[in-house]
Amino acid sequence: MFQINDNYQKLPGSYLFSTIAKKVAAFTEANPDKRIIRLGIGDVTQPLAPAIIEAMHKAVDEMGDAATFHGYAPDLGYDFLRKAIVENDYKARGCEIEADEIFVSDGAKSDSANIQEIFAVNNRIAVCDPVYPVYVDSNVMAGRTGTYDSETEKWSDVIYMPCTAENHFVPEFPKETPDLIYLCLPNNPTGTTLTKSQLQEWVDYANKVGAVILYDGAYEAYISEKDVAHSIYECSGAQTCAIELKSFSKNAGFTGVRLGYTVVPKALKCNGVSLRDMWARRHGTKFNGAPYIVQRAGEAVYSAEGKAQLKDQVAYYMKNASVIKEGLKDAGYTVFGGVNAPYIWLKTPDQMTSWDFFDYLLEKANVVGTPGSGFGPSGEGYFRLTAFGTYENTEAAVKRIQAL
Ligand SMILES: Cc1ncc(COP(=O)(O)O)c(C=O)c1O
Repeated sequence: MFQINDNYQKLPGSYLFSTIAKKVAAFTEANPDKRIIRLGIGDVTQPLAPAIIEAMHKAVDEMGDAATFHGYAPDLGYDFLRKAIVENDYKARGCEIEADEIFVSDGAKSDSANIQEIFAVNNRIAVCDPVYPVYVDSNVMAGRTGTYDSETEKWSDVIYMPCTAENHFVPEFPKETPDLIYLCLPNNPTGTTLTKSQLQEWVDYANKVGAVILYDGAYEAYISEKDVAHSIYECSGAQTCAIELKSFSKNAGFTGVRLGYTVVPKALKCNGVSLRDMWARRHGTKFNGAPYIVQRAGEAVYSAEGKAQLKDQVAYYMKNASVIKEGLKDAGYTVFGGVNAPYIWLKTPDQMTSWDFFDYLLEKANVVGTPGSGFGPSGEGYFRLTAFGTYENTEAAVKRIQAL
């Protein structure tokens, strides 16, 4: 008789956004006349920029001609894209990353879930609390997290680093020494970030204790403050302790197009074994490349027109962020984030739980957000709103909340 991977049975409840979708569906069915505004899931709403559409059209035409047709993409990604990434995301920022350290993929969700595979099962992971749920769940599936305590909503073998208003959302070095440290900066869900010197302290710590930092930079394009690093490789020593995960979803609206990349520096080794070579082996075995058309679209992100158009797109969402932030502040809410990230993290009023506030907002304002407790126990009493809606919807949602 076959046996299943029991670790899957340990996963508590359903995925956060499925629970939200079910609640919203039930409300809509009961109240068909109400117009709901969704500022919950971090999905973009603006269309792809013209420079990207143009590149995709051209690539589609190439695929229709035997002389320019492309089949399987090279394992690590096309050179044209990896070179554009190296030049723009690294060399331009003074980071010495080479094209053969870049692995093009279909996005940061899969990479951030899969990267744990190259580490031993008995490695201890440390995560910020609250956290993007994929990091913990993928380690649960791999059997790395121990047992779940539904009272504390914590796993016995996970090291939690609370990030709350009390510590200004800056994780502190944990008492127990971790092997793998997940850092997402700018942060989802809190919308806050670390300064470059605070990040440097984490790099120094990881090198000192022999840990690897799994650095998720999905929201890097939203950084507006000067003292914030755009890549962990801006910190000295990061090449020997950090893997960087990047996405084209939020900087270029590729949530439905699918493209990302992971950087594993050649200098990152464990007892002489290259993690870069391990990830190359894994990638070559389990992934058959992002589509040619999509990689050409990715290349256009780095063209002069692409850059200018995407700067405007990011500014559009950040204007929403400021509408939410200022609007809620005026209404008496305590708000965080929204300066270097498209998320606003607010304290629920009157000691409401995160889910109580979710229901309250859905029923009274017909606005959907995300309960902070869905991202981890330290998210209790907080709530996340995204700036990825349209400007009109964002403004309308804020007015509705102000009128409560
Ligand atoms: C922190 C973080 N990492 C990764 C992702 C997923 O990115 P992608 O669309 O490239 O899979 C998200 C999406 O919301 C995210 O918030």
